[in-house]
Amino acid sequence: MRQKIVAGNWKMNKLFHEAEDLISAVANEIDDREPDCEVIVCVPSVFLEMAGDYAEESQIRTAAQNVSEHESGAYTGEISAAMLASMDIPYCIIGHSERRKYFGETDDLLLRKTERLLDNSIKPIFCIGEVLKDRESGNHFNIVESQLVNSVFKLNKDEFSNIVIAYEPVWAIGTGKTASPEQAQEMHKFIRGLIEKKYDAETAGKTTVLYGGSCNANNAKELFSQADVDGGLIGGASLVAADFIKIIYSF
Ligand code: PGA
Repeated sequence: MRQKIVAGNWKMNKLFHEAEDLISAVANEIDDREPDCEVIVCVPSVFLEMAGDYAEESQIRTAAQNVSEHESGAYTGEISAAMLASMDIPYCIIGHSERRKYFGETDDLLLRKTERLLDNSIKPIFCIGEVLKDRESGNHFNIVESQLVNSVFKLNKDEFSNIVIAYEPVWAIGTGKTASPEQAQEMHKFIRGLIEKKYDAETAGKTTVLYGGSCNANNAKELFSQADVDGGLIGGASLVAADFIKIIYSF
């Protein structure tokens, strides 16, 4: 059985006291009522220490939203994988479409970031997904395949076994336009097939593949019921405790 995950991607939202209120509400709920999934909050880096304190005392787990491709040194404003590891942060988002688009992150750079994380025993939540133009022209499978081939498929099998994949069609992110459960399943199955072809059936069967893009309290159950959808990477709906909690119990 592969690990099911619901991860909240807060992006650049919340002030400190709001962040603490949200984490404590979620942590209390999942400690009272054990969910069928790992629950992760991907918080802005300034909140990682606070979130880590909750992780020590509860079932909640933390993730960073970004990491440097460099090991250490004169890179003002950057955060290294070793720093995250020294704070026991278990996960980090890599390759989110907003970082690809606004910060020019390429497949090659994302591979280097992934390698830094793996060197420090941190699991990357590696995001892939096509833009609307590619979906409309029927090129979406090629795009997703090339994002994998040019980055994480360069890892060996042992390394790859620590990767969580998040399929996030860019046209569905923050737009309220969700992929249908059938569209999500079709792509997740395709991704799992690529992993099997590249590595083997066991690795493919064990890889957690999350769906992201306007997943919310109303549509999570149907999306998560698809055979190859192992949970979600949730943006907007993870900012409201009641909504995020409902998603957590959608399996
Ligand atoms: P959304 O964002 O749920 O607000 O669409 C998902 C994401 O960007 O990870």
